[in-house]
Amino acid sequence: MNHKVIIEPFRIKTVEKIKMTTQEERVKLIEKAHYNPFLLDAEDVIIDLLTDSGTSAMSSDQWAGIMRGDESYAGARSWHKMKNAITNMTGYDYVLPTHQGRAAEHLLYGNLGGKGKVFISNTHFDTTRANIEYSGAKAIDIPIPEGIVPELEHPFKGNMDVEALESNIKKYGKDNIGAVILTVTNNSGGGQPASLQNTEEVSKVCKKYGVLLILDCCRIAENAYFIKQREEQAKDMTYLEIAQKMFSFADGAVMSAKKDALVNMGGFLALKDNSLFDKLMTQLIITEGYVTYGGLSGRDMEAIAIGLKEVFEHDYLHYRITSTTYLGNKLKDLGVSIISPVGGHAVYVDAKAFYPHIPPHQFPGQALAIELYKLGGIRTVEIGSVMFGSKDDKGNFVPSKMELVRMAIPRRVYTQSHIDYVVEVFAELIKHKDEVKGYEITWEPEFLRHFTAKFKQID
Ligand code: F0G
Repeated sequence: MNHKVIIEPFRIKTVEKIKMTTQEERVKLIEKAHYNPFLLDAEDVIIDLLTDSGTSAMSSDQWAGIMRGDESYAGARSWHKMKNAITNMTGYDYVLPTHQGRAAEHLLYGNLGGKGKVFISNTHFDTTRANIEYSGAKAIDIPIPEGIVPELEHPFKGNMDVEALESNIKKYGKDNIGAVILTVTNNSGGGQPASLQNTEEVSKVCKKYGVLLILDCCRIAENAYFIKQREEQAKDMTYLEIAQKMFSFADGAVMSAKKDALVNMGGFLALKDNSLFDKLMTQLIITEGYVTYGGLSGRDMEAIAIGLKEVFEHDYLHYRITSTTYLGNKLKDLGVSIISPVGGHAVYVDAKAFYPHIPPHQFPGQALAIELYKLGGIRTVEIGSVMFGSKDDKGNFVPSKMELVRMAIPRRVYTQSHIDYVVEVFAELIKHKDEVKGYEITWEPEFLRHFTAKFKQID
């Protein structure tokens, strides 16, 4: 029998209580949090869809691995397990462990960057961009044009625009390119996959000009699932083989293990050759820790080694992508405009379409995130002009390309009834959507303002 219902391929062994709040309480709580969901206490959230990062439920095997963790300072057994799992996946021999993805980014892009350097990506994730800009370099996003049209169906909206890549390398000069970064899946562009073919084409251009190609691979297994479904050349390959092929086109990778390694903390930088390795290794020791643990405990490394295997299992990946699609399809049925097709780790709601009466400079995405919290205790994140809006030379507001709200699904954490609850909240929200007002920023920091900015509602 071909079952229509795809069940969670696990049983629950430990549970974590959710504190229930009332709408009345939440109205006050979000006001106290200056209308920024990041400033809420997690305890006051019913369903936390803020991020899929570090929020995975670990398996009983991983918890058993936690007990086996070797906490030796140098050359720990757990380090060798982690390194072997990474080398097996990437084919790269030079691996540096870090406490999370951005530490690997800081190490690599801080070295490759600096004033006058340019980085080119399908879309830089916010910490990637921040690390690059912090070094004084410039970050340019060149997704394929289809990638930024929310409702347009395309199998690989995470692809990089190969023509734009070549013209940008020529424009800035190959010696000024810090690196080309392919983010898979493309988080800021909707959790959309990049294809094997695109990776190969990007790789060819990079090789032609002698430019370094780095994979930001934190959702590499989810990307592999889409490739297997959608790309003819990969239909008989395993998910791991697809990932391995992808890595073979690049020169190195940064990974936040907090996503597809199914752990709560960790990351790494892996490189194909050792030209940069010695320098980065010394810096790792200064900033993160000794080369065989980076910022990690032995038990973290043990769990990463196990997670990197579990994540490529068919039953897991099939459930994972199906459950994200389930939420997306239910929202579509309600007439909510979302990024289509649904991505791997999250559903991205088009807030500009949801609240057409709120202009981008009044942050329709922020307004939607706040309504979701007030009505249902659901925490999400704006990915629009709060996160990516900027000012031109004259100080005029420059909106983000899209105004989105991301509903990221933690791995192996919520069941279908939690998701049905989210859908129900959305159905209620639609009824009152014309009454919702926009927001203005009352305080913001210099970098990554979305994390800590304070807002007030516009009357
Ligand atoms: N690259 C991508 C594509 C990411 O999505 C993230 C994190 C990072 C790098 C940085 O990794 O958090 O371990 O330092 N994304 C999280 C998110 C924060 O919510 O999407 P990190």
